[in-house]
Parts: sequence; structure tokens; C-alpha cells
Amino acid sequence: MERIQKIIAQSGYCSRRKAEELIVAGKVKLNGVTVTKLGTVADGNDTIEVDGYTINDKQEKVYVLLNKPRGVVTSTKDDKHRKVVTDLINIPTRIYPVGRLDYDTTGVLLLTNDGELTNELLHPSNHIEKVYIAKIKGILTPGHRKTLENGVIIDGIKTASAKVKIKRIDKKNNTSVIEIMIHEGRNHQVKNMFKALGYEVDKLRRERLLFLTCDGLSTGEYRFLSIKEVKRLYNEIKK
Ligand code: URA
Repeated sequence: MERIQKIIAQSGYCSRRKAEELIVAGKVKLNGVTVTKLGTVADGNDTIEVDGYTINDKQEKVYVLLNKPRGVVTSTKDDKHRKVVTDLINIPTRIYPVGRLDYDTTGVLLLTNDGELTNELLHPSNHIEKVYIAKIKGILTPGHRKTLENGVIIDGIKTASAKVKIKRIDKKNNTSVIEIMIHEGRNHQVKNMFKALGYEVDKLRRERLLFLTCDGLSTGEYRFLSIKEVKRLYNEIKK
């Protein structure tokens, strides 16, 4: 038997904290009866519904690595009816993106129905490594490179330390290509880090999430993770 907020979070529907809020708000039913107590437990034979959606914790876990193209929303649905990342993945299982890439950002995006792994990969305390390649307008100065590494203030909070490499400088076109490794996942973080120093990001690509890259995948293509890769992800979050 497990607490129902844990079962809901493990299903990938939402985080455990959000599940607790939904329970207290009377949005969760156990075997057809609304429950509002956080201590309520259930097992695999019970039916849990959240807002009318049935949670199935016994569902086989699926892990998909997508090479996200530009012009696609990182979500399972979009109010403005734009294309969403799950439209690119032709499988019957309901999966969710792990974190968010902007509409115009490309590269590594993991999608899964494994809520536990999702929550761990997104939890700031796990310091999950993400590497981006940013093409920016202007020539990044060595001083600004160091400032990005040490942290810049965004919305009053300093970003954690990062690693920054200048990959290419194009003086003629006044652009730079920068590799930046961060451990946080704040909204538009990379763009805002450059913006804080007066640079505009023209193109952004996520090259790597931990050890996962898009090697062998064309833009818009996806593949399933191997069991070995899933185990490795679990090892990474246990570190
Ligand atoms: N940082 C950004 O600014 N955008 C992304 O899509 C990802 C990280």
C-alpha cells in the first residue's frame, strides 16, 4: 500500500506536492469516492481518478529521447493550437516532457510517463547537468564569460555557477557561439543569463542532458532509451 499522492506523482500526472493540493481540494477519487485526507493509501487494485482522469500506476514505463525542432511547444497540449512535442511521437502511451525547452529551442528533450524520474530530474537539489550551444549577437568578452560562470542576477536571484566556453567568434557578422553548462532549470535561463549582460540569443540548442545527446537523430526524430540508459539515469539521480 502506498499513499495516494505518491501513486499520483509516480504516474507522471504531477508532482507529489501538487497531488497533495489536488487531494485537499477534493479533486481526487479513490474507487469512485472523493478523498481529502493526505494519509489515504491505495494499492494496484484500487482506481484513482484525478479531475476525472484515471491514474494507472501499473502502466509500463516509456522513455523517449526527442531531437526537438524549432516551432514546437514543449507540452502535451497548447491553447493556441500550435504543434506540441507529443504530436511528433507516434506511440499509444501518454507521456510528458521532462522540463521545458522554449518554442524556438532545439535539441535534447526527454519524454516519459515515469513521474518519479521526472520529479527527480527536475528537482534543483539534484544539480542535473545541461549543456547548451547558444549563438548570440555580439562578441562575448572574456570578462563576461567569467561573469556568466560565476553567476548573474536574474529576477533578484543569482544563478548558480556554470561552465562557459567560447566556441567561435565571428567578428565580420558580430556573432559568437558559446557552450554553456548549467545545473539549474529556471525559465528561459540561458537567454536570460545572456540578456543580463546585454547579449541577445539568436539560436539555442540543448546539446546534452547528463549523458544523453541527440547523436544519430535528425531534427524531429526520436528514439526509445535502452534499459541501460534508464538505469544510468536512476544512478545519476541517486548520486
Ligand atoms: N534556457 C533558455 O533560455 N531556453 C531554453 O529553451 C532552455 C534553457
